[in-house]
Amino acid sequence: MRILEPTQDWPSVLLARAGEAAEEPTLGRAEAAGGWASFRRAVTALSPDEVTRIVAESGLRGRGGAGYPTGRKWRACAQQPPSARFVVANGFEADPGAQLDRTLMERDPHAVLEGLALAAYAVGATQAYVAVKSSATLAARRLREAVQQAEEQGILGTRAIDGRVDLHVEIREVQGGFVVGEETVLLRALENKRAQPDQRPPYPTERGLFDRPTVVNNVETLAAVPWIVAHGAAAYAGLGVGGQSGTTLLQVSGAVQTPGIVEVPLGTALTEVLALAGSVEAPKAVLVGGPSGAFLPPDGSAVGLDPDRLGEAGAIWGSGTVLVADEHACIVDMASLMTRYLNDEACGKTIPCRIGLRRLAEIGDRFTSGRPRPTDRQLLDDLCADTRDAALCALESTATNPLLSGMRYFASEFEAHIVRGECPAGVCQPLRVAAGAAR
Ligand SMILES: Cc1cc2nc3c(=O)[nH]c(=O)nc-3n(C[C@H](O)[C@H](O)[C@H](O)COP(=O)(O)O)c2cc1C
Repeated sequence: MRILEPTQDWPSVLLARAGEAAEEPTLGRAEAAGGWASFRRAVTALSPDEVTRIVAESGLRGRGGAGYPTGRKWRACAQQPPSARFVVANGFEADPGAQLDRTLMERDPHAVLEGLALAAYAVGATQAYVAVKSSATLAARRLREAVQQAEEQGILGTRAIDGRVDLHVEIREVQGGFVVGEETVLLRALENKRAQPDQRPPYPTERGLFDRPTVVNNVETLAAVPWIVAHGAAAYAGLGVGGQSGTTLLQVSGAVQTPGIVEVPLGTALTEVLALAGSVEAPKAVLVGGPSGAFLPPDGSAVGLDPDRLGEAGAIWGSGTVLVADEHACIVDMASLMTRYLNDEACGKTIPCRIGLRRLAEIGDRFTSGRPRPTDRQLLDDLCADTRDAALCALESTATNPLLSGMRYFASEFEAHIVRGECPAGVCQPLRVAAGAAR
């Protein structure tokens, strides 16, 4: 996917070495631009605890969806009783509409691997994995070549870097749907077991891959770590806005002139991101975070794009995507589509997941087909509360987001469907188009 040039003077941490899509990201090119220098310095001059402390102080938070503090996760793993440990880079990129992680892995696999190596050093792991969706063939090939080059140059492998490093990295292509991006599901998939989530606690840092302490981090989270170790925690913390640290990748698509991926300071206002991608004059809504994300008003009511502000707005960081909808889109239709998708993708391990999401999707379908029942709103409220309370994994607990956020911010459009049997955008059939509505 196209990488957008920011118009602002924003720092480039993740895409600094991204190059062109067709350029092979060799070790030589990466090293010439500072690649692997942080790992070399860490294993010669810093203790594992010092690396973890730098990452913790930088304020780096996971970019895989939940925004968990990375340093805290590493510390939790490092503090486990001595045993084999693992680090898994989550490059599965479950959201079928997202291409951020894939782009990063294709353009700069060495940044992901160096971050993975630093994580392994910090927690004492000698075996690490990068999990990639089986359809991301270019990313997998380039990662594999990058591992091979790093081994040949004595950076990875057995007794690497003057005997200081023992680290084996395996690239694993994983098949499966949306739920496989969830960390416990991914771990089971790597073990060739049935891909379903586990109850937590224990968290993977305590009992993860093959029941051993395991750090699972998103590939973008890991790719930021070499920069943090090179420039220091304070420098990274200073890159964000509104109390957030660092930069992040965002993908903007839909009703925009230039869809693409852009690196912005974490916490950047939604309106600034829309301006960069050349949004249509009057966008109706943005879906932030992917299928289990939330529909927000495009003025963003000054929403900063960071996990905290999005949480306050009833949204999630999710996959880091921003999908812009114009006046031709129907939010009820889109919210129902997302709910149906999540129901289709749910693994069904628990009753709320197996039955609750199905009932939720049915309500959405009744809204769009003009057959709402008088009890639907109450049923929706009850289902959302129950599904969130009883959720085993975040697919269930966030599956309520599209409908709930749609009803919160686009109440009049839902009213039109449910009360008057009208679809203002003229999308839902066989509903009437409201008089005077834009089509
Ligand atoms: C349904 C679902 C799909 C997910 N998909 C991904 C994914 O594709 N990539 C990812 O890194 N995290 C994904 N996550 C989040 C992971 O469970 C986990 O929190 C993350 O990999 C941890 O890395 P981080 O701390 O660096 O964010 C998903 C979670 C859920 C519930």
